[in-house]
Amino acid sequence: MATYADIYANWQADPEAFWANAATDINWIKAPDVILDTANAPMTTWFPDAVCNTCYNAVDRHVAAGRGDQTAIIHDSPVTDSQTKITYADLLDRVSRIAGVLAAKGIEKGDRVVIYMPMIPEALVAMLACARIGAVHSVVFGGFAAHELAVRIDDATPKAILAASCGIEGQKVIPYKPLLDGAIARADHKPDFTLVLQRPQAEAELVGGFDFDWTAEAAIAAHAPCTPVGGADSLYILYTSGTTGQPKGVVRHNAGHMVALNWTMKNIYNVDAGDVFWAASDVGWVVGHSYICYGPLLAGCTTVVFEGKPIGTPDAGTFWRVIEEHDVKVLFTAPTALRAIKREDPNAEYLHNYDLSGLQSLFLAGERADPDTIGWAQKYLQKPIIDHWWQTETGWAIAANPLGIEELAIKPGSPAVPMPGYQVDILDEGGNPVAAGELGAIAIKLPLPPGALPTLWNAEDRYKSAYLQTFPGYYETGDAGIKDDDGYLYIMARTDDVINVAGHRLSTGAMEEVLSNHPDVAECAVIGIGDALKGQAPLGLVCLNNGTDRSEEEIAKECVALVRQEIGPVAAFKRCIVIDALPKTRSGKVLRGTMVSIADSTPWNLPATIDDPATLDAIAARIAGIGETLS
Ligand code: COA
Ligand code: AMP
Repeated sequence: MATYADIYANWQADPEAFWANAATDINWIKAPDVILDTANAPMTTWFPDAVCNTCYNAVDRHVAAGRGDQTAIIHDSPVTDSQTKITYADLLDRVSRIAGVLAAKGIEKGDRVVIYMPMIPEALVAMLACARIGAVHSVVFGGFAAHELAVRIDDATPKAILAASCGIEGQKVIPYKPLLDGAIARADHKPDFTLVLQRPQAEAELVGGFDFDWTAEAAIAAHAPCTPVGGADSLYILYTSGTTGQPKGVVRHNAGHMVALNWTMKNIYNVDAGDVFWAASDVGWVVGHSYICYGPLLAGCTTVVFEGKPIGTPDAGTFWRVIEEHDVKVLFTAPTALRAIKREDPNAEYLHNYDLSGLQSLFLAGERADPDTIGWAQKYLQKPIIDHWWQTETGWAIAANPLGIEELAIKPGSPAVPMPGYQVDILDEGGNPVAAGELGAIAIKLPLPPGALPTLWNAEDRYKSAYLQTFPGYYETGDAGIKDDDGYLYIMARTDDVINVAGHRLSTGAMEEVLSNHPDVAECAVIGIGDALKGQAPLGLVCLNNGTDRSEEEIAKECVALVRQEIGPVAAFKRCIVIDALPKTRSGKVLRGTMVSIADSTPWNLPATIDDPATLDAIAARIAGIGETLS
């Protein structure tokens, strides 16, 4: 059997041959002759002359191969107390009907469609229906508020929006239609129509001629066939947080995405067609795109769409119940979910109620997996707990322990080693590789592999300046870390203004933009401080305009409400402190990093370039030790 080292060396020796070989597992309308197009380097595209359809590979081909009766999707919804199983044949019917609805209403290849849906099978149906007719979907996470949705509508300029009437968050029913209407009203771009799935928990009021009923339209729709698309045509845009309030529209092309995800299912996760794969994330995030929808379906697995939380729906045993009931072979979740379970059930009492013998492994990603949490899961589950590291931009793991190739030694705190496709170097400020064990910026040698972003939507210059400029010849990940003597990576921190709250990637810059709009706020900073449950939590520090005589407490409360209203509850912006002045360097740069260290009680030095040390002393008196840093 080939080892990880063999396979990685194999890729290094001839990357194009490696991916051309992986591409043979995809059904092409026209197989690619060109594997990697470098004519426009550093912009590169994989399989540009292939002709294909992602929906065909995720759905139709399994039915054609005789597996139409196999379950494709299990919807397990403790919040509605229901379970639904959808076979591949049924999925094909549902997807081609919705594709038919969209085609009949004028959606064509290349048109954009925004999807705003909770964790229901129709979210996957919507994505696949777009893929079927070559439309480019952009799913927006339900926890974002109307403003964030509007920003995405204006950037993607969709012809249609597919939505559900409500989401259900634990005990709360959240009507989506008011958010949707609010976003459309705010956006400069107006879609032609919406298609709304009515859920009984909160039906939406539909406006005739603009809002159409999903179920009624699907019932009378013609089945649309798969539209052939080019390998480098876009499958989707997924917005992710950057440094500013304008999110980055990560683009995913059809061919490279299929080839890469299909490769990962066996080689990284060690699952085969027919196995049950469960990514307990949300379709609004990249994990949901890659491993709730496309990856498992491309590989012919059964995917679990879970509409619930790790705790409270109804208890800390829910994950274990789902694993037993549906015979889940691989669970993929964020460390924060395990921390939530561990906090409620430290001795894992609930585990005794369930048979987890079918579970092969547990994969973690989305944020740093702290050794405490890994140790807890390892102790009670007695299965490999695999940390792996990736980003919205890459779409699949940069570093992992590839269980389908071989199980490498697990080093808690490390997501293990680079996957084929990724040469990962740790660089100093001058762009030179540092010695093993030294901290530096983590960069990936170009070209990026299939599946990783080829560009940002309508923002090629931003793509180049955000990712390719700092270290010529490399993609800058925005993460800092270490590589040890065995080549294992350790991901330590972001090098930019992105924070990670409960596995959700958020921009402190975007929150600062919102706070600056408060009429009494003169200046502000948002920092990510340690949080024992969520990994990080935002903390707002605001200075008021001269002469403001309103209560500080009142203003801080309004700031909290403003971020919730503008960005959404997912920002989890709950703490805001009014201060006299922000500590800055003499050149005017706010000392965010120093404030984080003070809050988290980690060692820090007084920066030599500080303008007025008294400002830092004053803040230290307010925030010292309020963070709860993880091990
Ligand atoms: N629609 C609407 N609101 C949403 C939402 C959605 N899809 N997702 C989250 N929210 C809301 C929550 O209801 C909460 O609102 P509140 O302030 O009124 O309580 C807020 O956004 C923050 O949500 P969250 O960070 O998820 O916190 P929580 O306290 O509800 O739950 C955990 C904490 C740890 C249980 C939860 O974060 C979790 O399960 N995390 C797993 C992380 C994950 O899947 N990450 C994806 C990347 S792999
Ligand atoms: P997202 O784009 O939302 O997937 O967030 C990507 C970022 O989350 C990465 O750049 C890291 O900062 C962080 N991240 C993801 N997975 C891990 C991991 N396994 N260990 C440490 N950080 C991680």
